[in-house]
Amino acid sequence: EAAQKGGYDTFMLKEIYEQPEAIRETLRGRVEKEKIHLEDLEKLDLEKINRVYFVACGTAWHAGIYANSLFQKWIDVPSICVAASEFRYSDPHIDDKTLCVYISQSGETADTLAALKMSKEKGAQTISIVNVLGSSISRASDVTLYTCAGPEIAVASTKAFTTQLALVTLLILKMAELRHTTVDCKAELLEGLKRMPEVVSEMLDKHELMKQYAAFLKNQEDAYFIGRQLDYVSVLEGALKLKEVSYVHADAYFAGELKHGAIALIEKDTVVIAMATQPEVAAKTISNIEETMARGANVILITTKDQPAPKFKYVIRIPDVHPLLAVIPVTILLQLFAYYAAVEKGRDVDKPRNLAKSVTVE
Ligand code: G6P
Repeated sequence: EAAQKGGYDTFMLKEIYEQPEAIRETLRGRVEKEKIHLEDLEKLDLEKINRVYFVACGTAWHAGIYANSLFQKWIDVPSICVAASEFRYSDPHIDDKTLCVYISQSGETADTLAALKMSKEKGAQTISIVNVLGSSISRASDVTLYTCAGPEIAVASTKAFTTQLALVTLLILKMAELRHTTVDCKAELLEGLKRMPEVVSEMLDKHELMKQYAAFLKNQEDAYFIGRQLDYVSVLEGALKLKEVSYVHADAYFAGELKHGAIALIEKDTVVIAMATQPEVAAKTISNIEETMARGANVILITTKDQPAPKFKYVIRIPDVHPLLAVIPVTILLQLFAYYAAVEKGRDVDKPRNLAKSVTVE
């Protein structure tokens, strides 16, 4: 096992560090200048689609929320992201004009597979984004697009997630193209994705800093992750990762919703991890976070290079990336944060209690 860990203490850390390569592999052969090669999609009739569901569990569900946000931004067809365990019981409207997109690292998650089978019975067209070759979900869908993250051993998902984010970005851009919708920032996004392995490496270089910040949780039992818009995807994933591996109770909130409840829980030294990378709302998020600081919170702010944040002591600035791609570098930081929090607390990082890598019961 030590050999398999390739010199790292744990599989989780190894997999966190494999992300530049995993993303590069996932993009390989799929992006050529402004052209996206996902030819398999031509098997589908996307022009007739009038409703789209993104369906997944856990971390993959967060990738679904991201995919749905991009889809809504660019494509004028109603869409929603639903947790697979809820999907079948939510009376989804499915017929042959419905597209269902399933996201799964293992390709074996029982709820996701059952949702896929149900949607096929009702005539939906189906796409799956899967990491494990030949898995049940990949075999059952009309089109499978593989993330090329390589085997993910640690229970907590890391490289599968960031490769899902990269691949769904390509998928939604391609869908826009097939539906003759122009996405103004397409060239910039494709360029940004190609550069992403370097950006991720830059984030990995911040490991010492994340270790130092994770130590803020030493005597804390709770942490609050906050952000708006696409930052909310990183917020959800950062909170989940922290819970999974460190057992610190972590909540994810929209920054603007804090004042409707959670702010009552903020007291001296409460750890707040705040994301403000989305230009339209960053200033508002920052003012929400200042509210928590006024109540004594210990705030770590993740933001962009040029966002003014004079009142913050602990600020991490991500490299210049298109705001729609910021979730990838932010996630890397939050993975490191969760990892070091777990190590600090002496947890079994690769095999957290009560969790399974692939959940094959509903
Ligand atoms: C389990 C794993 C999570 C994963 C989820 C969905 O809960 O511990 O890391 O996100 O299942 O798994 P999938 O293989 O469908 O992505």
